[in-house]
Amino acid sequence: MPNNAAAPTAFWVAGREATGDTTFDVTSPWDGRLVGTVSVPTEEQVEEAIAAALAVQDEFAATPAHVRAAALSHVERRLVERTEEIAQLISAENGKPIKWARGEVGRAVSVFRFAAEEARRFNGGEAQRLDTDGGGAGRLALTRRFPRGTVLGIAPFNFPLNLCAHKIAPAIAAGVPIFLKPAPATPLSGLILGELLAETDLPAGSWSILPVPNDRMAALVQDERLPVISFTGSEKVGYDILDSVPRKHCTLELGGNGAAVVLGDYASEADLDWAAQRIATFSNYQGGQSCISVQRVIADAQVYDRLVPKIVAAVEAQVTGDPSDAATEVGPLVSEAAAERVEAWVDEAVAAGAKLLAGGKREGAAYAPTVLAELPADTTLAREEVFGPVLSVAKVDGEAAAFAAVNDSKYGLQAGVFTHDVQAAFRAHRALEVGGVIIGDVPSYRADQMPYGGAKLSGVGREGVRYAMDDYTYERVLVLTGIDL
Ligand code: SIN
Repeated sequence: MPNNAAAPTAFWVAGREATGDTTFDVTSPWDGRLVGTVSVPTEEQVEEAIAAALAVQDEFAATPAHVRAAALSHVERRLVERTEEIAQLISAENGKPIKWARGEVGRAVSVFRFAAEEARRFNGGEAQRLDTDGGGAGRLALTRRFPRGTVLGIAPFNFPLNLCAHKIAPAIAAGVPIFLKPAPATPLSGLILGELLAETDLPAGSWSILPVPNDRMAALVQDERLPVISFTGSEKVGYDILDSVPRKHCTLELGGNGAAVVLGDYASEADLDWAAQRIATFSNYQGGQSCISVQRVIADAQVYDRLVPKIVAAVEAQVTGDPSDAATEVGPLVSEAAAERVEAWVDEAVAAGAKLLAGGKREGAAYAPTVLAELPADTTLAREEVFGPVLSVAKVDGEAAAFAAVNDSKYGLQAGVFTHDVQAAFRAHRALEVGGVIIGDVPSYRADQMPYGGAKLSGVGREGVRYAMDDYTYERVLVLTGIDL
C-alpha cells in the first residue's frame, strides 16, 4: 500500500518481513507526490536471503507439486481480491494510467494461474527405449528436469507487478528458490507479492524480495551461489551482465523497436481503421514504455496514403493526462529525465529531416503522442529503442521490402503483420528475425503463457511460465539397465 515516511515498506528475506537501516522514497512521476518510503536491505540481510535459499534448495525441489500449486493459486486469488488497491499502487508509483494498471493486475493473475497449472504438469518425464541399437538391449532412459540452482531475478519498472510475477511464479512452480530484485523506481508493486506469498506454506528461504540498490547489484550478479540470472531491462545492462558472468545461465529480455507491417491486401476502410486504432493505442500505451510497443509502421504503398491520416487522427485522439483518471490512455513517462531523452531524440530526427505529423512536445515527465514520417536511417530514433510514445511511418513497395525493413534493425523482439493472406503469414513467420510474429495485430500483443523473448540484440532465452520453468531447470537422464522392455 502507498505509505508515509513514518512507516517504511518492508522487504522480504527468506519469506519473512524485515526492514534495514536506511530507506529511499518512491515518488509519482505524474505529480511528484510521495507514494511510499521503502526500506533498504543491509548486506547481512542479503546474505541471509542467499544462505536460506541455498539451505532450502533440496527441500524445495522435493516439495509436492500440489503444495506449490496451492501456494500459487492462493496468490492468484489474493491478487483478484486486491486488484483495485494494487492497480492504484502500480499507477501511483509508475505513472501508468489506471486502466492499463488494472490490466496489468489481470495479467499477473493469469501468470499465477498458469504457474499453478504448470506446477502440476511439470516434470512428468519422458521414457525412451534404448534397445534401438545392439548395445542398448534391456535399457530404458527416463528424463526429468532438476533445478540449476537459486535464481537471481531482476525486474524492470515498466510492468512493476507482472514482470516480477514472470520471475517468481515459474520459480515456485518448478521448486527453484528465487531472489527477486524489483526496480528501484517501482519497488512497491513487487513487494506486494511478498505479502501474498507470506500467507502461504512455502518453505522459508524459497523466495526473497529485496529492493537492493543498483550500485550493489554487481556483487550479486557475480555471486556463484546464484547460478541463474533472469533479467528484464535495457540492452546495455543486460549485455553488461552477460559479459561479466559468461558461464552463468542468463535469460535476458531486452529492448526492441517493434514494427507493425501493413500489407497491400489489408485495404478496406474497416481494415485500415482497425490497424490505425491498434497502432495508435499500442504505440502509446503506458507512454510507449514497453519493449513491444509500436515504434515503426511499415506500410505498403497501396495503403500508405489512406492509412497514415487515420493513424495521425487516432494518435491525436489519445487521451493524455492524470494516470488516476479512468479516461486517461497516456500518462507520464517514468521520470522527467526519460521524457527529456525522448524529446532530444525527436528533435534530432526533425533536425535531420524527419516530418513531424503529430505531437513532438514535452511537459515535465509527459511527452505527447508523436508521429514522424521520412525518418532518416542514421538517426538515433531509427536505430535505437525509444521507450516513449513515438512512432515513425515508412512507405515500402511490396511484402519483401516490408519484411526487409523490419529486419533492418539490431533488435528482434516481436513484429505485427496486418494481412488476411495466410500464405503471407507463413512467409512472415519464416522471414522475420524476431521472437514472435503477430498476424492481424500489433507487435505489442503478449499472452503470458506464450514463449516471449528476442532474436538478435533483443535478448537470450524465453519467458512465459512454462518456458521460464525450463530455463530455471535442466534435463537429467536416468538410464535403467536390465529392463524387460
Ligand atoms: C516488456 O516490456 O518486455 C514486457 C511486455 C509485456 O509483458 O507486455
